[in-house]
Amino acid sequence: MRKKIVFLTGAGVSAESGVPTFRDSGGLWEGYNVEDVASIEGWYRNPKLMLDFYTDRRRAMMSVEPNAAHRAIAKLEEKYDVVVVTQNVDDLHERGGSTNVIHLHGELAKVCSSRDKETCIKVLPYEIPLKMGDKADDGSQLRPYIVWFGEAVPNIQRALEEVASADIFVVVGTSMQVQPAASLIFASRAEQNYIIDPNTPREVGRLGVNIRVIQKKATEGMAELLEILMQP
Ligand code: OAD
Repeated sequence: MRKKIVFLTGAGVSAESGVPTFRDSGGLWEGYNVEDVASIEGWYRNPKLMLDFYTDRRRAMMSVEPNAAHRAIAKLEEKYDVVVVTQNVDDLHERGGSTNVIHLHGELAKVCSSRDKETCIKVLPYEIPLKMGDKADDGSQLRPYIVWFGEAVPNIQRALEEVASADIFVVVGTSMQVQPAASLIFASRAEQNYIIDPNTPREVGRLGVNIRVIQKKATEGMAELLEILMQP
């Protein structure tokens, strides 16, 4: 029987690919106040600003590549059942080779209806800008398929079930400041728990005693973990 490893990843896993994290930049995200560009109120207030902002984020995806941490996570599929629960909206886990990725906060590659977010979902190539007047099949304005503050997190139940059934649970590169994602750590019943982050989050103590902290960047920490987990 193959063991199951569940990863919970955040912005830190993509940092070495050149995607900026959220809270390492003094509260600003690419120069914007997070509430203005990442909340449903922001969308109601100024949809054009949101569309332009996400068009820029989508375009930025074309010049980034998965790093060694994404690839190491994918390599573990040779020996384990691996599920990646990610808060990231980039597709670097998939491009790094992971085949089972649950996106908690949506995906930059996709757009959806602004009337009913879980409908009319489709992939829009990164080079195509998202503009006012672009319509979903239900006639509403197309919007980014992103979970904004103030919105439900549809994949949280699936993620909870995966974490609760993990043999090995690994947290990589998240400050665990955003709920409900952060509470996933309390669902772990795994025999081995690891945290990889150069700045260990304070929530770490609550995971229990059988936790190993690898206080390193994602690429270095994942190289270390790969050695441990791929031992014959
Ligand atoms: P944060 O920016 O809050 O946290 C990034 C974490 O990555 C911190 O703990 C850093 O110490 C760590 N870090 C930085 N560089 C790293 C590296 N090279 N290797 C490993 N770790 C590194 O990002 P998240 O926790 O992902 O939500 O943020 C959670 C959510 O807040 C995001 O998904 C987003 C944001 O608002 C939405 O947009 C809904």
